[in-house]
Amino acid sequence: MSLELTAPAPDVPDVADDGVWLECIETGETYAPFDEIRYTSDHGHLLEVRYANPPTFEDFQGEGRGVWRYRSALPFEEGVSLPEGDTPLHEAPRLREDIGVNTLRIKHEGMNPTGSFKDRGMTVGVRVAKELGVDRLACASTGNTSAALAAYGARGGMETLVLLPSGKVAAGKIAQAALHDARILEVDGNFDSCLDIVQDLAERGEVYLLNSLNPFRLEGQKTIGLEILEAFRDDYGRVPDRIVLPVGNAGNTSALYKAFRELVQSGALDPEQVPKLTGVQAEGAAPMVEAIENGWEDTKRWDEVETRATAIRIGNPVNAPKALPGIRETDGTAVAVSDEEITEAQRDLAGEGIGVEPASAASVAGLRKLRHEGVVDADEDVVCLTTGHLLKDPDAAFEAGGEPEPVANDTEAVLEHIGAE
Ligand code: F0G
Repeated sequence: MSLELTAPAPDVPDVADDGVWLECIETGETYAPFDEIRYTSDHGHLLEVRYANPPTFEDFQGEGRGVWRYRSALPFEEGVSLPEGDTPLHEAPRLREDIGVNTLRIKHEGMNPTGSFKDRGMTVGVRVAKELGVDRLACASTGNTSAALAAYGARGGMETLVLLPSGKVAAGKIAQAALHDARILEVDGNFDSCLDIVQDLAERGEVYLLNSLNPFRLEGQKTIGLEILEAFRDDYGRVPDRIVLPVGNAGNTSALYKAFRELVQSGALDPEQVPKLTGVQAEGAAPMVEAIENGWEDTKRWDEVETRATAIRIGNPVNAPKALPGIRETDGTAVAVSDEEITEAQRDLAGEGIGVEPASAASVAGLRKLRHEGVVDADEDVVCLTTGHLLKDPDAAFEAGGEPEPVANDTEAVLEHIGAE
């Protein structure tokens, strides 16, 4: 199987363009990368971007910061950039102590230009759209993808169309899509039905699809894993034991696994060093957890999904066939957390000065739960990914945080109110 951690570097097929091609993850069929618009194989299976030369850490030296530092692991030398990546790997000492692990670092992807990791995928995806000569970009979204698509589309001078589940997208995200002038369609259905429609539009040639079904998006998102490994090695001289991340469509899980697989292929990383990929979902939208617990090859679609973490309110994770092997081959796991646990973790992160949206806090909630259950050991070095910024979802922040207190326009009244002597 081509998704094994120790799969050797593939032979370069004739269809390769400058050492880059697309390959079906099920059958190994190969396709030229930029001759035609293509999201899946002829049989509807997922595709991966493949390279003649998988990268080593040395390739990144002296290449600047951010996503394009990793150009040797990407299909282009540069992209439509704002720029993105180079996000902080925060320490969180009180949280580390409280959860009880050897090391805890928070990779805060909310610090990207539009406030989520989606920017890493879009800088590559919109570059590919330019290569293909398309002019209308589209996505289905729980919010963050639409914000990133709108901004990067605007940057690239392209038209953008976004389909959102009506009433289920946080205010900050719609505001971004609106100001960057995406055409916003609110669909009376959930994210999964929006994606069904956008896929139909893409098949009919009306739009270029930039959801994570598009294999090029995941290439940009691979750089999260590369940044984590580089920064962790710089600080501790080793790589983390485990990376915990929120899961919706399982794009990031697939992308991180691909980053590590390519480093193993080049000999830059030993297979046993690869961090255990640990996915976290909300209890009300947990098809990946169900598939891991039952040993299934794919997920079963959940038609009814609900969670306060609207970013991951997804019942049909399209990248599951890539992500499930990633979790299993790295000896990771998947866990579901309640909305209350998510809110608690959001407050815990805020208490360390790190402001995240609810879906992001799922990673910390999941780590706490797995540590409590003894699945995660006390001696582990762990990185939690926080995927989106606090300001994405102001309503959730107000609900989780303290109340503003009205006071009179008078110093004495304020002193009395705050209980000063
Ligand atoms: N966290 C946040 C903040 C997200 O916005 C998403 C996905 C995820 C986690 C899940 O990532 O899909 O790679 O497993 N948001 C998409 C969107 C679906 O439309 O913005 P994944």
